[in-house]
Amino acid sequence: MNVELSFISGPKNVFSLFRQSRKFSAKASVMIAIDRLFGTPKHLVPSFYDHDDTGYDGKPDSGSRDVAPHLRIHHTVHVQVIKYLSGSGLKPMTNKLMENIAKTMLSSGIGGVWLEMEDLFDFCKLKLLHASINSMFGEYLTALHPDFVDDYWKFDDCTTTLVKGFPSFMVPRSWAARRKCLDSLKHWKAYVEKLVDADGRTFYEGLDPHFGSQFIRQRHEGFNKMEPMNADSIASEDLAIMWAANSNAIPAAYWFLYEIFRDPELLGRVRSEVDGARTNAHEPDAPPRFDLEALIKSPLLQSIYAETLRLQTAILIARMPAREDYQLGDYSFKKDRLLVAASYIAHHDTKVWNQGTVDDPHPLNQFWAERFLLKTGSDHSGPLLQSYLDSAMEDSAVQPEVKYSTDGLAGAWVPYGGGQSLCPGRHYAKQEMLMTFAIMSTCFDIEILQEPGEVTLPDLGYFGLGVLPPKNIPEGFGG
Ligand code: HEM
Repeated sequence: MNVELSFISGPKNVFSLFRQSRKFSAKASVMIAIDRLFGTPKHLVPSFYDHDDTGYDGKPDSGSRDVAPHLRIHHTVHVQVIKYLSGSGLKPMTNKLMENIAKTMLSSGIGGVWLEMEDLFDFCKLKLLHASINSMFGEYLTALHPDFVDDYWKFDDCTTTLVKGFPSFMVPRSWAARRKCLDSLKHWKAYVEKLVDADGRTFYEGLDPHFGSQFIRQRHEGFNKMEPMNADSIASEDLAIMWAANSNAIPAAYWFLYEIFRDPELLGRVRSEVDGARTNAHEPDAPPRFDLEALIKSPLLQSIYAETLRLQTAILIARMPAREDYQLGDYSFKKDRLLVAASYIAHHDTKVWNQGTVDDPHPLNQFWAERFLLKTGSDHSGPLLQSYLDSAMEDSAVQPEVKYSTDGLAGAWVPYGGGQSLCPGRHYAKQEMLMTFAIMSTCFDIEILQEPGEVTLPDLGYFGLGVLPPKNIPEGFGG
């Protein structure tokens, strides 16, 4: 509502937004999100978040305001997400996540007898969110507020309404759903801070016994030092990172499962890769554990992962020319005008993507597990249309072999955005998707009860916000 956008399309144009990311600010979408989605106290949006124009880098952007180092909110948050969501900083959290998902599956009450379940997505939402919150935020939040997982998904259902910026008297249910989550987070923070005080504010390597992870502990340490921040704005930050970490990754993990389990031939191939990566096969009754490196190296699993995100991600990646007008080819965009690249458009570009052959077609609105596999001796494999590949790769010698390939996809496969704001949670998301499938396919046999040719479609009502959830078909309409 009341925001003018210019859409940028075509891989070269989209990539130029990422390549020249220092000319742009991604702050505009952050402002919309913290204000409209996460309910940050109104007065802090202009006076604190918008006031800080110093950017993400260690050195404040030239010409920016004089902001005290500990009040550089965007830089502080950025440094922490990079530190704790990649490399060795991430490992303790992903190991904990694997343990939690495996435990929650084994204690789900599903045993050796077939049972019919109404909705696989609901099952994933409840089980995965519980496991994920307990890995990142520790166990006190869901212990103090046993309804939190339900409350979170009620809030998530309202995000399409909240992002439009309607006032509370017009959409009171949406505001109330958010309020409930924020109140629980406020109460949790106060409780956990008392435990940290009682523990002499000791720091622990890897996981934190009170805040769950070093990631969340360090965020709170940073927020506590920022004078303008208060309990309400910190709760909004918690809700924001929880949303970033779960509202895309959990629907993506669901689609990954759905596409494999509805194709028995594919399931057979993938299961043998999963079995090979299990590290505790000698303990058949224990929660399964996997070598994540081995899972991540599987070309087929990687291709399924990339194709899942290609098909189901509909995110609007927003940038604003920060200090001067921006020239893109023949077009000039005014400073402070919002430019947007839509991943869904990029991912369905028939001028770019390989759609198979006349005899073996794979249209872009359908899942193709092998779209990202490049095979020796096949002119028709890999993600790209041959004619596009020839022009995109003119400067480099392509060595075809059997492998997972994203070569030449700059600006074309963009589920995680790009440039300086490239999603820092992408490693965590990939590991979560792969480990969820590995654990669930080891713990359970799943049969998707659909007629041949019947397909679950994404809910385009969520267009723009990220990975689309499956569309809920009303009873009596099949599905
Ligand atoms: C399939 C899952 C995910 C998708 C599709 C996704 C997508 C995105 C996109 C498109 C952006 C904006 C990038 C840009 O503006 O160029 C973003 C930013 C971000 N994502 Fe993700 N994300 C996913 C999972 C995660 C996870 C699991 C986490 C955390 C654990 C996370 C944390 C973040 C954060 C903190 C940012 C803001 C980065 C910044 O502005 O510095 N994301 N994500």
